[in-house]
Amino acid sequence: MRITLGVTGGVAAYKAAELVRRLQQDNFSVQVVMTRGAREFITPLTFAALSGQKVITDLFGGAEGQDANLESAIEHIAVAQRTDLLLVAPATADVIAKFARGIADDFLTTLYLASTAPVVIAPAMNVNMWEHPATQANLETLRRRGVRVVEPGTGDLACGMVGAGRMAEPEAIADAVLSALGRRHDLAGEIVLVTAGGTREALDPVRFLGNRSSGKMGYALADAAQSRGAKVTLISGPSALHPPPHCDLVKVTTADQMRQAVLERMTEATLVIKAAAVADYRPVNVSEQKLKRSGNLTIELAPTEDILAEVVRRRRPGQLIVGFAAETSNLMENGRAKLLRKGADAIVVNDVSGDGVGIDADRNAATFLTLSTSIELPEMPKRKLADRILDEIVTLRRPRSLLLEMDEHKDVNAKLDRFKQDVVREESAPFDAARRQLIVE
Ligand SMILES: Cc1cc2nc3c(=O)[nH]c(=O)nc-3n(C[C@H](O)[C@H](O)[C@H](O)COP(=O)(O)O)c2cc1C
Repeated sequence: MRITLGVTGGVAAYKAAELVRRLQQDNFSVQVVMTRGAREFITPLTFAALSGQKVITDLFGGAEGQDANLESAIEHIAVAQRTDLLLVAPATADVIAKFARGIADDFLTTLYLASTAPVVIAPAMNVNMWEHPATQANLETLRRRGVRVVEPGTGDLACGMVGAGRMAEPEAIADAVLSALGRRHDLAGEIVLVTAGGTREALDPVRFLGNRSSGKMGYALADAAQSRGAKVTLISGPSALHPPPHCDLVKVTTADQMRQAVLERMTEATLVIKAAAVADYRPVNVSEQKLKRSGNLTIELAPTEDILAEVVRRRRPGQLIVGFAAETSNLMENGRAKLLRKGADAIVVNDVSGDGVGIDADRNAATFLTLSTSIELPEMPKRKLADRILDEIVTLRRPRSLLLEMDEHKDVNAKLDRFKQDVVREESAPFDAARRQLIVE
């Protein structure tokens, strides 16, 4: 498949060289188009050497140093027709604005208008440029148009400031490309319910008990499930993130609203993934007036309902239920205990004790726990981890197809033997018993 990689004028332009290599690993042929701005940061020669193809730099001159001719004059149309996906990385605030407005004053912006291929952009810029309402409004326009935005990471920026604006890692960008091309479509027909973000329990009209969850893991799961063909409902606590396009977003604030929303929508779901960080306690009394400082204050808390346990109790046959456990100590022990206590099909255990991974971070590491397996998912961008988690969930689905087949033939004993041979990864006694129970049902 052919990707056209637009490189624009930002400090992160050098990272596009690594991206070319990464895309080639996935067997993409990469045609690089550079803006005039990009050429201030890196030479076309670098990309020509890496991609093995001439680099397009001008609308009126074709390749660098080449005079305008008939071939080069219609090149943007030819490139537009043969490209399977347009990727812009890094994408400057300038190119984002031009795409949003339909300005076509160089090769890349003209190509954007002339192409009907899916578009992925990986913005990179100073945090103030990123947060500027003009940039955010332009991004919103592009998202509405179906452009996939690979959100920049947060951290130290080239300009010396700290904040959002650092271009996403090549790995995360390559993943977005694969998703946009629908390379994986193994969740087609599934209806996935994902919960994300933290909840807030009011103390008074302006204060609440909350947690640091950003919603990034849940939103990544929703995005990954959707790009693999699932119909997705995302139930989210307060979050600054943009939901994936075309997913059904339900916004909630409190644990109780989260519970209501989940119970109302779980019946139609074939897969429920509970990635939200739901409050375990809520204040017994909520002050109607803003609390004033007057010495020590004791707040009485009451436990909230256990949504995961309730979802498991109400599950219908064939529904898969996956929970998350955020732990700061005895990860495996606590994760396993939660798995047994709740009766979910799997628990994704996160270590949330460190900085830089887990809660409110762009990266995460986890263990995917079932009754019979424990799969280590090492540190990686959350979007990539989302796909790895879905890979494991798809593996859990495998027995269902066998169950359906069994139903057709009614030859339960013979099928049971085949089933046991097939599910070699899941052969522990309790799991086997659970499966038998399912078959009986
Ligand atoms: C040193 C330097 C670094 C820059 N880095 C960025 C950047 O990271 N992101 C961005 O949006 N603009 C950045 N700019 C501004 C763009 O280069 C400028 O808006 C330019 O017009 C972009 O052109 P293009 O979008 O056609 O490549 C930078 C400018 C300079 C001089």
